[in-house]
Amino acid sequence: MEIIEARQGDHRYEVRVGEGAADGLSVLAAAHDKVALVTCARVLRTPFGRALAKRLGREAGVALVHVLPDGERGKTLAELEKGAMKLMKAGLTRRSLVVSVGGGAVSDAAGFLAATYMRGISWAAAPTTLLSMVDAAIGGKTGVNLPVAKNAIGAFHPPVAVLADPRALATLPARELRSGMGEVLKYAALDPALMGKVAALRPGRAPPAELIAACARAKVRIVAADPNEKGERKLLNLGHTFGHGIEAAGAFDRYTHGEAVAIGLAFAFRLAEKLGRIGPLTVAEVEQGIADAGLPTRVPAAVAKRAVALMGFDKKRTAAGLRWVLPRGEGPAWKVEWDVAADDARVAAAVAEITEPRGRGAVSTTKTTKGRRR
Ligand SMILES: NC(=O)c1ccc[n+]([C@@H]2O[C@H](COP(=O)([O-])OP(=O)(O)OC[C@H]3O[C@@H](n4cnc5c(N)ncnc54)[C@H](O)[C@@H]3O)[C@@H](O)[C@H]2O)c1
Ligand SMILES: [Zn+2]
Repeated sequence: MEIIEARQGDHRYEVRVGEGAADGLSVLAAAHDKVALVTCARVLRTPFGRALAKRLGREAGVALVHVLPDGERGKTLAELEKGAMKLMKAGLTRRSLVVSVGGGAVSDAAGFLAATYMRGISWAAAPTTLLSMVDAAIGGKTGVNLPVAKNAIGAFHPPVAVLADPRALATLPARELRSGMGEVLKYAALDPALMGKVAALRPGRAPPAELIAACARAKVRIVAADPNEKGERKLLNLGHTFGHGIEAAGAFDRYTHGEAVAIGLAFAFRLAEKLGRIGPLTVAEVEQGIADAGLPTRVPAAVAKRAVALMGFDKKRTAAGLRWVLPRGEGPAWKVEWDVAADDARVAAAVAEITEPRGRGAVSTTKTTKGRRR
């Protein structure tokens, strides 16, 4: 079991990664008057989800199992109100605990429910996707979407524990596993020492607990250094400026978050090369890592164009006005910096490089990324 001590201001909590990590939930529950388990039907149907709910029912006397609609559909203000009503009816007080069992959508929604119910009660996360184990469940950003904007309503409300058991990943659909690999690759791009470990992974297999823990440790360290995203926490946005544009260009349906981050990483390294910050070999290594994980490094021209417009490269705000998170260095020794400026011409040149040549290449990205339901 890997145990990582997380600190956000005066608040301290443990992130545990390993088999049996979720056992800690029973002990936590005993320190609270009531427990509400928040999850979604898909997770509750998995052997991991079912066994955990059963155990908590037995050992923690769960007062309520609240089942959210799947994915982003559970992250709405209407669902928040429904959830809060249920907590109220089940008699949860300021001394109660919300336990989130699910992916990032569930932990965002459950964490925000805990952040707002009675002005804030404790919550703990048992993440069940790779993405939530290495990223979403850690750091205390919670929230829901507005119909016009993702994560528009939210709060910083760190959990009392994050308990990640990699056995939960056994039932994760292949595409969701790859999506989590997008964030794992981000940590590898932030810390080149991890890149070799990622490169050694068998495609399609979940990373071992040690690698999940290494990513979680990186997130914990960066969040502790800058809890409110004034500086260093911006590093976690590596690949995300362009990635968010890609997600939006695909109407949050065509590309998963991790797929968009993968493309955003390829873009960030290409842009860094255009700015003379890194060499072509580093770009090739990172792109190889992305491709080995089964993730895209190229998008069709129409998507790239729309992504550029949506990330703020429009009449009002040119790309030169954006600040980037970009690597600098030589060979295996690069470092990543934030608040880097880039001129429009170099941004355009990097965009051209991650655009699929006309008439080819559409195979790898468009076919595998279609039909995502959120
Ligand atoms: N708060 C943060 O810091 C932060 C960071 C990154 C992402 N996020 C948020 O996280 C969300 C994405 O999270 P995600 O990628 O985990 O996706 P998700 O939570 O939507 O889960 C993806 C799908 O996998 C299913 N699933 C989850 N665990 C499973 C399991 N073990 N077996 C089988 N199916 C399982 C879910 O039901 C869902 O259908 C987004 O809403 C994003 O905004 C938040
Ligand atoms: Zn991300």
